[in-house]
Amino acid sequence: MKENPNVCVVGSINMDMITSIDKIPAQGETILGGTFKTNPGGKGANQAVSAARLGANVSLIGAVGDDSFGKDLLEHFESENINREGIKIIPNTSTGVATVIVSENDNRIIVSSGANAKVTPEIVSKSRERILHSDIILLQFEIAMETVRYIVELAYDHQIPVIINPAPYQEIPEDILTKTTLFTPNEGEAFVMSKIPEFEFIKNKMIITKGKHGSAFFASSGEMITIPAYPVPVKDTTGAGDTFNAALAVELASGNTLGQAITFANAAAAISVGEIGAQGGMPSKKEVDDFLMKNKN
Ligand code: RIB
Repeated sequence: MKENPNVCVVGSINMDMITSIDKIPAQGETILGGTFKTNPGGKGANQAVSAARLGANVSLIGAVGDDSFGKDLLEHFESENINREGIKIIPNTSTGVATVIVSENDNRIIVSSGANAKVTPEIVSKSRERILHSDIILLQFEIAMETVRYIVELAYDHQIPVIINPAPYQEIPEDILTKTTLFTPNEGEAFVMSKIPEFEFIKNKMIITKGKHGSAFFASSGEMITIPAYPVPVKDTTGAGDTFNAALAVELASGNTLGQAITFANAAAAISVGEIGAQGGMPSKKEVDDFLMKNKN
């Protein structure tokens, strides 16, 4: 078992503008009420923060703009013990921003990519040595597919496992489907993936996150196995998937089995929904271990 694995996250960095409201306004309607918060977010950054809180040595590779959000986020990564040497500050560019509406126990998100759209293979290649020192790599689809491909190929050539969280969903090129170790779609993304011609070849690499219904994967027999979620009060589901991905990566890189890693990741995700903000409820390893002791399935 490896206690503090090296986890590399290549992905998006956003500032989240979160409005929590009882009811979503209809088109053309203005409503009063709700609360507003500005919190760090972005699928890449969320996964990095979660993995760091769970005890991994984390490097985040991506980009921010040369604005105040970028500056705040870089300081935030420092305080979360995340190595930020692979984060480029891009001049005359805004940091990624996500408009998040939290309502009726779920969220709606619009991402303005800003600097995330400028995370090129050339930028990430500057962190090549750091990437090659990873025990596992986490990717999502909020940066360019050509950059995702660059990392997948590098990792494949050096036999480093890669988890792709295919969100927001985009068509996945065949070489990425072949060379990626695991995909972690949600149910909607998994449905789209089930329609692609390569589905039969990749289904054994899929772990499907199903929110309050737990997480599922295909056994080698073809049977779908579901590992149940933990019933918990929900304040905000934003970032629960990111917490799941980070926890899965940390546990697999530490040497745990897939079943153990999914159980741990379900618990981490359950804890994460107890606070507002993608990173607000992300737990430490001790919090997850204590939660698992109290909630033996
Ligand atoms: O997965 C949640 C994240 O998606 C938010 O933090 C937001 O920034 C978007 O990237």
